[in-house]
Amino acid sequence: MRVLFVCLGNICRSPTAEGMFRRLLDDRGLAHRVQVDSCGIGDWHVGKAPDPRAHEAAARRGIDLSALRARQLAADDFARFDYLLAMDHDNLAAMRALAPAGFESHLGLFLDFAGPPDRAVPDPYYGGEQGFDEVLDLVEQGALGLLAEIETRLEPRP
Ligand code: 4NP
Repeated sequence: MRVLFVCLGNICRSPTAEGMFRRLLDDRGLAHRVQVDSCGIGDWHVGKAPDPRAHEAAARRGIDLSALRARQLAADDFARFDYLLAMDHDNLAAMRALAPAGFESHLGLFLDFAGPPDRAVPDPYYGGEQGFDEVLDLVEQGALGLLAEIETRLEPRP
């Protein structure tokens, strides 16, 4: 199973989702069965580490984002991943515009796996520190819901 988290810059929300989801998979002994990555719609931050505010907010909750580096969404991501999960509606619209005909993987809003449908993880980039804590709260909800969904799709193994 392969999961790709997508936001605009790949330095705030989607790396936070990647780090959070990796930790949940580690905690449940599923890290070897699910591949996780993140990327951005834009190319402005390619090669950069996550925003220091995202890094610090995640670190306060015991999540280490230091190994992550930004990359841009690529055409072959649509074939490589089973779940392509957008942080907001603009990201989703951009992904739909790039998706090849006949594309069969799951393409949708990340938070649709948790709570009321059609919610976005708001972009914290131009706001204050507390926006990054809100991102973590929402990402945690989404990651738990996504984990429950993926656990139902993984074949049981002894
Ligand atoms: P992200 O946040 O999409 O959550 O990584 C942003 C990062 C950078 C920019 C916008 C949003 N930017 O305009 O550079």
